[in-house]
Amino acid sequence: MKKVFIETYGCQMNVYDSEIVKSVLLKNGYELTDSEQEADVVLLNTCSVRENANKKVFNRINNIQRQRNENGKVQIGILGCMATNFRKQLLENPKLPIDFIAGPDSYKRLPQLLEEMTANGATAKNFDVTLSEFETYSDVYPTQTEGVNAWIAVMRGCDNFCTFCVVPYTRGRERSRSPQNVVDEAKRLADQGFRQITLLGQNVNSYQYDGNDFADLLEKVSDVQGIERIRFTSPHPKDFPRRLLKVIAENPKVCKQIHLPLQAGNDRVLEMMNRTYTQKEFLDLVDEIRELYPKMALSTDIIIGFPTETDAEFEDTVAVMEKVQFDSAFIFKYSERPQTIARRKFPDDVPEAAKKERIVRLNALQKRHSYQKNLAHIGETHEVLLDQEFTKKSPDDFQGRNDGNKIVIFPKGDYRKGQFLNVEITDATSNILRGRVVNVLNR
Ligand code: SAH
Ligand code: SF4
Ligand code: F3S
Repeated sequence: MKKVFIETYGCQMNVYDSEIVKSVLLKNGYELTDSEQEADVVLLNTCSVRENANKKVFNRINNIQRQRNENGKVQIGILGCMATNFRKQLLENPKLPIDFIAGPDSYKRLPQLLEEMTANGATAKNFDVTLSEFETYSDVYPTQTEGVNAWIAVMRGCDNFCTFCVVPYTRGRERSRSPQNVVDEAKRLADQGFRQITLLGQNVNSYQYDGNDFADLLEKVSDVQGIERIRFTSPHPKDFPRRLLKVIAENPKVCKQIHLPLQAGNDRVLEMMNRTYTQKEFLDLVDEIRELYPKMALSTDIIIGFPTETDAEFEDTVAVMEKVQFDSAFIFKYSERPQTIARRKFPDDVPEAAKKERIVRLNALQKRHSYQKNLAHIGETHEVLLDQEFTKKSPDDFQGRNDGNKIVIFPKGDYRKGQFLNVEITDATSNILRGRVVNVLNR
């Protein structure tokens, strides 16, 4: 039996896909191993969203090469988003020790690719990077068995073509799974003991299946007994009709947390990015959310230094952040990606020094906002789902997440993973909340 080691980069969809890959391989007579040294096959499930992510993988391939020189027989496969858009570089560089490549829609063909490779000998490179309009892996159960949260990919691909983004090229067109199929998976996961489901998709709220939209899907999943919390990621601000906002605000199982990727605060830049909303529309959406649920936790993604972004236009991003006061934000320097419209049309012309200054400033601003938001929770009592019986810093603390997805840390006690606890918040930093358990909830 061949032993397979798999390493995952990038977003949650890739983590999910790695579980799909494991499931496919297990069914076909492969064994999984946590030890790279023991493996006959090493798979890297890669990400291509920014240059850094790419570099990491190229470094890693070279370092497996060294190891392979020592034990000679390991086969190396590249999966995920780099498989699609770096196929040429990967296949044509004779120095790279890669045996095969499989894109995100080809994982059911992995056993076949592996077999062909063995038959052809290690020098022949195999690949399958065809993107599908239909593949949703609805008939493959991911292997995840532990934890309190389970993921379900409900749609795959992205049709938005934000001009900076490589995802529509690496993941192909949008397609959704049937609601019944999603509900069945949620039931199975509830039976296994999972308490929380996170619905996944590159543009999750554009979910569409036979007249069912994302609001319908949320309602159907919330009927599943045993599942107490539902989260979703990543949504696009353009796909929040009022009915969806109301379901989020009113359905007790849907967590009161929305990721709302702003990307930029200036209208000219937003238009160049093809985000399809203006600053005002974004702010109106935030107002509407807060009118329906004032304490909704809001997080965002921001790109600074998009081609031609001036200092004055950057100030619009600062202004939106000041107005909204996000609970948390991921802030990225613009990184030019192959194939994208921005790369073809707009030279990456914001000087590195300006990018650096902008990102440092926004990170400091966000840290301040996160701290203020967290301080405001002191004295409140939050429902916390216990997910870890230790913390990074201490074996004497437990941690969980509140409804808004913030980490809440409290002294350990007679509680178990998967329990819901009322925790009174007593202290806060910009990253976490601290508290003391008031009582255990009967859920
Ligand atoms: N589908 C999701 C996630 C896309 S990638 C969404 O739309 O939210 C996650 C984040 O990476 C994006 O929101 C964006 O902020 C950032 N990103 C994507 N492409 C980028 C690029 N070329 N340079 C810098 N950041 C990028
Ligand atoms: Fe990329 Fe935009 Fe699609 Fe998100 S919505 S994956 S940023 S193209
Ligand atoms: Fe990266 Fe692909 Fe996810 S590019 S962020 S792994 S969709």
